[in-house]
Amino acid sequence: MPSLLLLAGDGIGPEVMAETERVIGTLNKHGANFELSHGLVGGIAAVEEGAPVSDATMEKARATDAILFGAVGGPEFDHFSYDMRPEAGLLRLRKTFDLFANIRPAICYPALADASSLKRDVIEGLDIVILRELTGGVYFGEPKTIEDLGNGQKRAIDTQVYDTFEIDRIARAAFDLARARRGKVTSMEKRNVMKTGVLWREVVDQAHAAAGEGVSLDHMLADAGAMQLVRDPKQFDVIVCDNLFGDMLSDIAAQLTGSLGMLPSASLGAVDERTGRRRALYEPVHGSAPDIAGKGQANPIAMIASLGMALQYSFAMPDAAKALDDAIAATLADGIFTGDIAYGAPSVSTTEMANAIIERFEARL
Ligand code: IPM
Ligand code: MG
Repeated sequence: MPSLLLLAGDGIGPEVMAETERVIGTLNKHGANFELSHGLVGGIAAVEEGAPVSDATMEKARATDAILFGAVGGPEFDHFSYDMRPEAGLLRLRKTFDLFANIRPAICYPALADASSLKRDVIEGLDIVILRELTGGVYFGEPKTIEDLGNGQKRAIDTQVYDTFEIDRIARAAFDLARARRGKVTSMEKRNVMKTGVLWREVVDQAHAAAGEGVSLDHMLADAGAMQLVRDPKQFDVIVCDNLFGDMLSDIAAQLTGSLGMLPSASLGAVDERTGRRRALYEPVHGSAPDIAGKGQANPIAMIASLGMALQYSFAMPDAAKALDDAIAATLADGIFTGDIAYGAPSVSTTEMANAIIERFEARL
């Protein structure tokens, strides 16, 4: 039986996860047979289990086919020690399972073209992917410290570090992704100030020569790339970049689509040559949105669409994945919006949005 571990987390995580669980219920009703397990992650896990992700939950994660992850963090956890902060749970999952390839598609649904802060003609029809390296760079590099210099000064150090193999595998993943799309990769780094940028470009070029057949490759400095993303985002197909640039560029890409509440993501490990399978975690790009948590206002689309990515990448169910994407598009086309994308139009609750999607999903199964 295919298995999923649901880690709802904090803030709006439990609300959007509950709706996504109903979508899984719909799939099961139609014979999918997903076996579900649940666990705590983030601030709630730190409070109740003494760690932002407990060893027991890590064992469950090891045993499952794929993880669905909600969101972590919130002001009530801000005073926690660095090791106990909610985000540490997510980072442990990413690192332990070597989920190096983070796919963040940004699609502008026609019904939302006016919800973006950019002009309609700039974003209408937008369909790009940010491929973010997720297990290296400044997120995990050592040393990572704050030291007391003893003279009333402290020194904080983060380390940006990349080895050849880390750049090579994410570059190859970018070429594979692009080949199934419009065949265009743009690599972004800061080679003008960073040694990791120099190596990044060199290795991406080598990977392109070795494995980039049928794909065009361009390089852009990441700051210029950020500017181009808001100036003319449709020039891109697949953008590949390191962990920190990917964090920032994907939030920009999200806003192009109208709301951070729209963006799903997949974090994938390498394909196991023996079993043909890969470890995977699926999560919305939005965070825990503490300001609206518990109010039934959250947009569940990013979480539901993350399930859609799981159907595509972990469970070889492309028809169901397409039916779910189509159901989301149809719901929006029918003018059903949560508050974040309504822009003055009447809005529906989290559950009403999920009801509308589930109804249209069932009609397509
Ligand atoms: C993201 C988030 C995380 C990150 C946080 C929650 C640690 O912003 O997935 O983009 O910085 O990677
Ligand atoms: Mg982020």
